[in-house]
Amino acid sequence: MIQFVSNKGGGQPVDFETAILDGFASDGGLYVPTTLPKISLQEIAKWKDYSYTAVAYEVLSRFIDESVISEKELKQLLADSFSSFYHQQLIPNYALKSQPNFYIQELFHGPTLSFKDVAMGFVVNLFNFFLKRRGEQMSIIVATTGDTGPAAAHASIGKESLNTWVLYPKELITEEQERQMTTISAPNVFAVGVSDCPDGADDLDILIADLFVDKSFKKELNLSSVNSINWGRVMMQTVHYFYGYLQTVNKVGELLNFAVPSGAFGNLCAGSLAKMMGLPVGKFIIANNQNACLHRIFTQGIFLKKDIIACQASAIDILIPYNFWRYLYFAIGQKPTKIKGWIADFEKTGKVLFDKETFDAYSKGYLAAIISDEETLATIKSVYETEQYLLDPHAAVAVKAAQNLVPKLSPNTKTLCLATAHPCKFPESIKLALGTESNDLPPAGKHKSVEEAKTFCQRIYSCDYKNMDTAIRRSMKAAVN
Ligand SMILES: Cc1ncc(COP(=O)(O)O)c(C=O)c1O
Repeated sequence: MIQFVSNKGGGQPVDFETAILDGFASDGGLYVPTTLPKISLQEIAKWKDYSYTAVAYEVLSRFIDESVISEKELKQLLADSFSSFYHQQLIPNYALKSQPNFYIQELFHGPTLSFKDVAMGFVVNLFNFFLKRRGEQMSIIVATTGDTGPAAAHASIGKESLNTWVLYPKELITEEQERQMTTISAPNVFAVGVSDCPDGADDLDILIADLFVDKSFKKELNLSSVNSINWGRVMMQTVHYFYGYLQTVNKVGELLNFAVPSGAFGNLCAGSLAKMMGLPVGKFIIANNQNACLHRIFTQGIFLKKDIIACQASAIDILIPYNFWRYLYFAIGQKPTKIKGWIADFEKTGKVLFDKETFDAYSKGYLAAIISDEETLATIKSVYETEQYLLDPHAAVAVKAAQNLVPKLSPNTKTLCLATAHPCKFPESIKLALGTESNDLPPAGKHKSVEEAKTFCQRIYSCDYKNMDTAIRRSMKAAVN
């Protein structure tokens, strides 16, 4: 039986179903499997012509016992989770013409046009599957920098077992992202715009963590979360690394670099776990915007919270990359007491300085770059002008980071840049980059679902950051009573 424990070491081991439905472990830590399954090169090679969902089944079945979800049920859950994607291949690759050996993994063909759909649809379906089997109802709450919220809201439509609350920092996401949440009319989906968050979505994450600490509130609401604190999200995100690898390399066994626009480190934590499971990775390129929190961790060994800077790639305006702690747990050989100590230090002082042994253990195989807004916009422009391919600001951060780091990559290795959002979610950035007016946005900068959302009224719960704790609790309680 595969078991899951807290990366801070508290509480008892739990099964997969409990790890998913709990969200946070009982000591406030993040769930991790007690061992990571190993996948051999021969096995990976067998998947070469598999569809994305077939690869997903192979990877996930190593984490989920048949006694919890049968093969038939898991395959059905996967099929249901990807039925509303706009691209037949679900996650296609594009070979950049302007940069040899660079490929783009298009992770944005899901219903809300960001990579969050890839794991969210499946995780919300898992919740619904378990809850229906138990005959229970649950409230889930997520914070968003603009993409997790729409993905969670959309995935929850029609799921009677769930009430889903999505919290977003009001002035810090695009109108397109906001409308993806607020034009949903499903009675179980609630979008809350919070004004005046001093530290953006990080503030909302802290509020959510506080709600979980309040055991009686958690119990009353049967509360959980589908942010990437949830093991299911990270587990599911390991799959696109395997699939992207198989789509890109000539021969299984060759090393592939991955460039990943990173904020809370959920996506890259998943990639890192895929590597530990056996995926042949050359370098991971951590692509940060000017908030640079992961750059500091991976180049200087400092986990430090600074003031937030609003950047063009706004979904990665994140200061506390909490999934780094999940990765670190494995990188240093599963020592939960150390993780607990560092998290406590960070909570007390706002800073952790890692010792050399720890730094060496977690930073090997990672490169990092900070990309300015000017570079982000110039990259969108130059790629568009040379090959009429439109990057969103996050994909542009990844491509530019990889370009800057080419001298540090092994010659002739390929690099897969993760395109985590559709450009239509960031029209102002695209306009700035291309220097055009809104009506002149190229067709690749638009999407019918986003255009349609402009023709609906919005349904928004609004509140102010300073009253948010009380306001959210009241509204959530009212919705279930
Ligand atoms: C478009 C986009 N790119 C990248 C990221 C960063 O992902 P992560 O927080 O898992 O590092 C996010 C998530 O917040 C996102 O919405």
